[in-house]
Amino acid sequence: MLRALREAGAAEASRPAGTEPMTPEHFVYMDHAATTPVAPEVADAMRPFLSERYGNPSGIYALAQDARRALDEARERCAAVIGARAGEIIFTGGGTESDNAGVMGPALALAKQGRHIVTTAIEHHAVLNAAALLESLGWEAARVKPQRDGAARAEDVAGAVRPDTTVVSMMLANNETGVLQPVAEMARLVKQRAREERRTVAVHTDAVQAAGAVPLDVDELGVDFLSLSAHKFGGPKGAGLLYARRGAPFAPTQVGGAQERDRRAGTENVAAIVGMSVALERAERDRERNAAACAALRDRLLSGVLERVEGVEVNGATDARLPGNVNVSFHGVEAEALLMGLDLAGIAASSGSACTAGSLEPSHVLLAMGRGNDLARSCARFTLGPENTPDEVDYVVETIARLAPKLRALSGAG
Ligand SMILES: Cc1ncc(COP(=O)(O)O)c(C=O)c1O
Repeated sequence: MLRALREAGAAEASRPAGTEPMTPEHFVYMDHAATTPVAPEVADAMRPFLSERYGNPSGIYALAQDARRALDEARERCAAVIGARAGEIIFTGGGTESDNAGVMGPALALAKQGRHIVTTAIEHHAVLNAAALLESLGWEAARVKPQRDGAARAEDVAGAVRPDTTVVSMMLANNETGVLQPVAEMARLVKQRAREERRTVAVHTDAVQAAGAVPLDVDELGVDFLSLSAHKFGGPKGAGLLYARRGAPFAPTQVGGAQERDRRAGTENVAAIVGMSVALERAERDRERNAAACAALRDRLLSGVLERVEGVEVNGATDARLPGNVNVSFHGVEAEALLMGLDLAGIAASSGSACTAGSLEPSHVLLAMGRGNDLARSCARFTLGPENTPDEVDYVVETIARLAPKLRALSGAG
């Protein structure tokens, strides 16, 4: 199959010039949910901390204090964007670490109160595997299924809370389908019950995909913990933050030095953190304009694909989803083959979360939504960013319309 594809790609490459609206030299990036390009002003802000301003923020001399001030400023700036206090921001090494700490930190701190946590079946593996790790240590975990439209119901998640539940974790926007989840409503229900029963239930949300697309206000969301990852909003990889509400129960999951007020040990990645703060401010500043632009491109892509290609199924709600997300399944088309064909045409897209790409495992998100194995295996995710253009969208539609019938025929489903 893949050899046939490569040959098909070679044949395409030998087409007479001018018969394609674009050629592979015109690289089209539509995988912004996997990562985003670092914005030039972010790279500029980081650069001094990779060279002359290299101090360790824990030191007492001037060079170190310069790094400390940069860190403090970055903390203030990140906190302001999400409506938090600076002291509530814990810098981490990215979204995965923030999720691990956001789930396991309160679970460990509240272990004497109970050993049950609630999450959803469509979380990123950074949350799902944190739940699995807790299970291996004696905790129990409920994984609430979403509706067919990809959203878990707030009542279902809150309803899974038991007398021994200590942590509830629900993502704000799903990384595969882009479907928004009712976190604020769920948090209100969970907190109300916890108040009535005079006990603590910590609420965490993975907002990694939501940053720069939907408003992030920790009080409006009503959460105790919130995870962000810099590289999803124009910042560098390997930097993230965990918002931890003042007074919320938290045991560090990374121990060593006293950095981050004893909540996360390890010398801070000053350059990346400074870059993240600039990127987060920028993402918030441009949020409405970018969201409108991405939504227009998303609608153009989706209507183009539905018009030009047969046997297409949209995965997830079409209204309550991230502005730049198109997730569709192509009946009888193997996603891996389609993605390779797109790659040969210079288009970067994905079949779901980057971590499962390359494996033939069907998407756990689509399976949880009630999609069968075949549809879960034939899905492609296009995630748009502000630098994408209508011409690029048209080129992608054109390419899919050309590839899908061929691949369907190759797989014997045509
Ligand atoms: C929803 C979600 N959570 C967590 C992560 C992990 O973030 P990081 O790549 O920074 O570890 C991702 C990354 O794809 C994500 O999409």
